[in-house]
Amino acid sequence: MATAAPKTLKQARETYNTSGELVWWVFMRISGLMLVFLVFAHIYANNIAFNAGEIDYAYVANRLAQPSVKIFDTFLLGFALLHGVNGLRYSIEDYVRKPGRRFWAKAALFTITGIVFVLGTMTLWAFSYDEMGAAVRALN
Ligand code: HEM
Repeated sequence: MATAAPKTLKQARETYNTSGELVWWVFMRISGLMLVFLVFAHIYANNIAFNAGEIDYAYVANRLAQPSVKIFDTFLLGFALLHGVNGLRYSIEDYVRKPGRRFWAKAALFTITGIVFVLGTMTLWAFSYDEMGAAVRALN
């Protein structure tokens, strides 16, 4: 992309010739703002309100037994992953000039993203932390 990066929605509409790219432009602005609140609330809960050095399985199991934490973490996971990966995609478009290499760089990026998203979402939703937390506490 040799043209200057668009700063307003009007400029973005003139710059991008597909609606997909315009949607990503808007997404990057909304998710960037949301991440400021999501990441600070996350760091506050896990690092300031609680001593991060004492985090153990029981602490994580107790937190992930709460549906509100699962929903919060799903948004944190989704926004952080998509925001970061789309930023990387922009860098690949800018710097990997050969079409073949660009294709494979993006194919690798999207494959890894899919795997990380599925594993992250499974971690949050596929286990019963109530039962697993109780089982771990019963060992002590
Ligand atoms: C020192 C800083 C941090 C500490 C101590 C910490 C700690 C934790 C803990 C204990 C959990 C488990 C469940 C929970 O309580 O939510 C967790 C999950 C998570 N954290 Fe952090 N975190 C830190 C920084 C960050 C940052 C900077 C990000 C993103 C930019 C992040 C993204 C996530 C995500 C997405 C999950 C959910 C993972 C999943 O899908 O299973 N964390 N973190």
